[in-house]
Amino acid sequence: MHKTRMVQKIALVPVEERLKAMGEAGYNTFLLRTKDIFLDMLTDSGVNAMSDNQFAGMLKADDAYAGSMTFYEFADAVRDVLGYKYVMNTHQGRAAEHLLAKVFIKAGQVVPTNYHFTTTKAHIELLGEAVLEIYFDDALKTESTNPFKGNMDPQKLKDVIKKYGKERISFVRMEATTNLIGGQPFSIANLKEIRQICNEHGLILVIDGSLICENAYLIMQREKAFQGKTVAEVVREICSVPDLFYMSGRKNTSVRGGMIATNNKELFDRIRPWLPVYEGFYTYGGMSMREIGAMSVGVREMVDPSVAGCSVEQIKYFVNRLLETHVPVVTPPGGLACHLDAMKFIPHVPQSQYPAGALSAALYIASGIRSMERGSVSMDRDKQGREVAADVELCRIALPRRVYSMSHIEYAIDRINWLYKHRDLVNGLKFVWEPPVLRFFDGRLEPIGDWGRALTDAYKKEMGNV
Ligand SMILES: Cc1ncc(COP(=O)(O)O)c(C=O)c1O
Repeated sequence: MHKTRMVQKIALVPVEERLKAMGEAGYNTFLLRTKDIFLDMLTDSGVNAMSDNQFAGMLKADDAYAGSMTFYEFADAVRDVLGYKYVMNTHQGRAAEHLLAKVFIKAGQVVPTNYHFTTTKAHIELLGEAVLEIYFDDALKTESTNPFKGNMDPQKLKDVIKKYGKERISFVRMEATTNLIGGQPFSIANLKEIRQICNEHGLILVIDGSLICENAYLIMQREKAFQGKTVAEVVREICSVPDLFYMSGRKNTSVRGGMIATNNKELFDRIRPWLPVYEGFYTYGGMSMREIGAMSVGVREMVDPSVAGCSVEQIKYFVNRLLETHVPVVTPPGGLACHLDAMKFIPHVPQSQYPAGALSAALYIASGIRSMERGSVSMDRDKQGREVAADVELCRIALPRRVYSMSHIEYAIDRINWLYKHRDLVNGLKFVWEPPVLRFFDGRLEPIGDWGRALTDAYKKEMGNV
């Protein structure tokens, strides 16, 4: 339900150049340059198409260090859409995580969550002891019909509280569509059950709502009690449950920023003094006023079903088409991306050789499409320096909102099918250099055997150097 009024030219560089670019990027898709990328499906973060009204919001933004009316318009939008009285901006989602960790996490403490996100885990574990993942067993089954693989297991939460005691739990965290296991939603029934347990033990409940609208859209489609409700109503219902809410504005609101919001003044006042220390003054919090202008429009627009559902519907189509040719993908389709299951796609590559990283590199060589490794490369070493195997090895092909059309998706399906037919050519990777934290961003890897060359030659033989 959108039309395109501004376009950006892209180019498919020949396969020989793609092979070279992948080598120069250390087989890490984060390190590619956009000039070498045809379809950038690395992420949905900070790369969505903004609406005309968002651009208008940018132009109208009131540039003031303190007291900008644009901030107050944003706060009104947060109150109207999410139902929160208190809000602060942060420069992005991880900055909100930093402030929450700074205020609530003490040495030795743990954070139970339905599933971790990379930056969340880094912040929690830099100050506390560990993130504890307490999902239902189905969450890690890549092929499933469970509509709510993002649910937290209430019994496991009770066990964690018994084991650690409430003093060692900083807060309980629910992520709206669990990013790392395939953008899978939680249900409102589950969220309320978790709330009840938190109430019984005096624990703070935090929602990471970076993808709240996709979670709400999927609830509307999958949770009986909410069929017939609007996205706006479901979002409001979710937001009524936690003590604290934060989000990366780079996703649902299609800008570059973030926020923390709540109705709990006492909790808000504990975080607020740190905002000008780490982010910026209270009425901009590290964001430019122009982005806040676009964000206040984005908060209102994100609950429009044609925004909340645009990537969900594309992902459903993408996943279902790949299932027709038996390509192993995460099911049911979620929010955020189409995820290839690398351990099934290239089962001959052991997990110690980073199959998800290898598959993401191979997909780039075979198509010019940039995806993201979400597997063991994305897991940092433990405190003893040992490798940590990821629960799942996924090649994540993200759908930024309102950016790609069905013909782009058809192209991606065609190249993934080609790669699947030639999957035996793909082999593993090994690290040649890795940074101490969030290694997936900047780590350099090398192919085990010259499989990038073999894949390129096979491609050229069938299609030429295109
Ligand atoms: C669930 C979730 N939480 C937090 C973040 C961090 O947000 P940002 O990239 O804006 O720092 C992300 C980013 O992808 C995310 O997906």
